[in-house]
Amino acid sequence: MGWSSTGRPVVRSSGRPVEGFVGLAAGEFEMPTRAVLRDGQFLVMSAHHRATASAMIKTLSLNFDRAPAIAGTVVWSETGRLDSLVADAGTVTTLRTGAVVGVATDLLAPAGAGRLTLIGAGGQGPDQVRAVHTVRPLRELTVVDSDPRRAEALAEQLAPELNGTHIRTATDAASAVGEADIVCCATNATSPLFPEQALPAQVHVNAIGAFRPTMRELPDELLASSTVIIDELDAILEESGEILHALKANAITEDDLIELGTALSAPTAPGSKRTVFKTVGVAMQDWAIARLLADKFLP
Ligand SMILES: NC(=O)c1ccc[n+]([C@@H]2O[C@H](COP(=O)([O-])OP(=O)(O)OC[C@H]3O[C@@H](n4cnc5c(N)ncnc54)[C@H](O)[C@@H]3O)[C@@H](O)[C@H]2O)c1
Repeated sequence: MGWSSTGRPVVRSSGRPVEGFVGLAAGEFEMPTRAVLRDGQFLVMSAHHRATASAMIKTLSLNFDRAPAIAGTVVWSETGRLDSLVADAGTVTTLRTGAVVGVATDLLAPAGAGRLTLIGAGGQGPDQVRAVHTVRPLRELTVVDSDPRRAEALAEQLAPELNGTHIRTATDAASAVGEADIVCCATNATSPLFPEQALPAQVHVNAIGAFRPTMRELPDELLASSTVIIDELDAILEESGEILHALKANAITEDDLIELGTALSAPTAPGSKRTVFKTVGVAMQDWAIARLLADKFLP
């Protein structure tokens, strides 16, 4: 996935995040678990791509009382080049988190899915919607936030990009997911955003929000009854509050979790089960975006 000159995302099935996740599953990256400081207020992430001898290091601070919540720096370098690329961590993070949700939605959502409910109208929200719209053109968008001003502001911001999409806003997630084909969860919530019964029988859910064991967006019952795709097992077992909660409650087992790279390498025919894509975000994604930038901007 990349971005067009108009700022709209472009997802290609052979794009970098797809290659990146397939490469991650194949062991092409050295990627330590990220360092989490001050209970998640500072994160340091790094990834090294062996074949290109290139590496990315991202350092960021996170503060949900601030907008944007994420601020920091990405540095990309290659042993064969003297120049390094320095980029804004907030922008790279929203791009790569949108990109992976576009890839997962393209893989997992039914072909005609055109009704999206986005829960969480913060910094990640716009690129979540843009990514889904790129792979499944939206007929309807419901923007949900517990703060109605945030939901309204995001709906207004996106309206010019979503010609022909009917857009509405809501504050209650449970009543806003009942007719969705796709749900994107992008909040800093610490308990499930909706009960499993609130969802339709066929739905694809992306959940990017919870990145600490104390955070959760999804109920155990949804994870237990869905095909669950994750970004990377070690990171998920370290950080994903909802997966850890569901494992502890014996609602799922580790064997139920399928890494995205594996799913992309051997796609299976869509089944009748609901699908969930859970990502906590891994450094390879930042490496992939930084490499696109380096190819474009470094001499
Ligand atoms: N998975 C990843 O790769 C990845 C990448 C970036 C950010 N994140 C995480 O995603 C989350 C969102 O990030 P952000 O930068 O958009 O944060 P943000 O603070 O800008 O926005 C979060 C929004 O969620 C809303 N919200 C919180 N609880 C809610 C609820 N119960 N119902 C409805 N709305 C609710 C808030 O009002 C806020 O508008 C954070 O937890 C962040 O750490 C994950």
